[in-house]
Amino acid sequence: MLSFVLENVKDTKLLAETLAGHLGEGDLVILSGELGTGKTVFARALLGCLGVNEVVTSPTFVLVKSYQGRLFVDHVDIYRVDDPEELYVLSIEELLEDGHIVVIEWGERALGLFGSSYVQISFERLDTEVSLEDEISGDAKRFVTVEIVGPRFRDRRGQMEADMYKIWNVA
Ligand SMILES: Nc1ncnc2c1ncn2[C@@H]1O[C@H](COP(=O)(O)OP(=O)(O)O)[C@@H](O)[C@H]1O
Ligand SMILES: [Mg+2]
Repeated sequence: MLSFVLENVKDTKLLAETLAGHLGEGDLVILSGELGTGKTVFARALLGCLGVNEVVTSPTFVLVKSYQGRLFVDHVDIYRVDDPEELYVLSIEELLEDGHIVVIEWGERALGLFGSSYVQISFERLDTEVSLEDEISGDAKRFVTVEIVGPRFRDRRGQMEADMYKIWNVA
């Protein structure tokens, strides 16, 4: 597991860009962290780097939004899903099998449901003293952890971690 301090939104986007360069068909990305910690900011940047040119909006109410960039990418938000059974209705397993990249906000709730390979990124607020203006403008720090798990990533994991290390000093 890697952990970093992201100084601001620019760093968060840089992490997304770094990850995007390593993702391929059928990969699952799980985004965790409390409300307002940056999951959607990260997802939007990730989708942009995967070639999605449309405006990416938060899928909190629609649960799944599908895009086509250089690959098919589905942006999922399961904040409102209480019952894990409901997740089956979203057919995430099928999307992955069809070669889509699936990015799930609040995805820790789905851990283990969609195979054993995933990249999990967790965001935490670091600074309790930060002003509201800095928070809103994207100038607040986040503590982030990255876990790259499972056989799908066996051959990529080392390079993925190395690229992330290149950008940050490990916290
Ligand atoms: N380092 C940072 N990384 C990401 N977002 C940040 C950061 N600092 C401040 N923010 C702000 O935090 C908010 C994150 O919102 P959002 O991505 O919608 O959260 P979530 O999807 O986790 O609920 C945005 O208003 C963004 O400007
Ligand atoms: Mg969100």
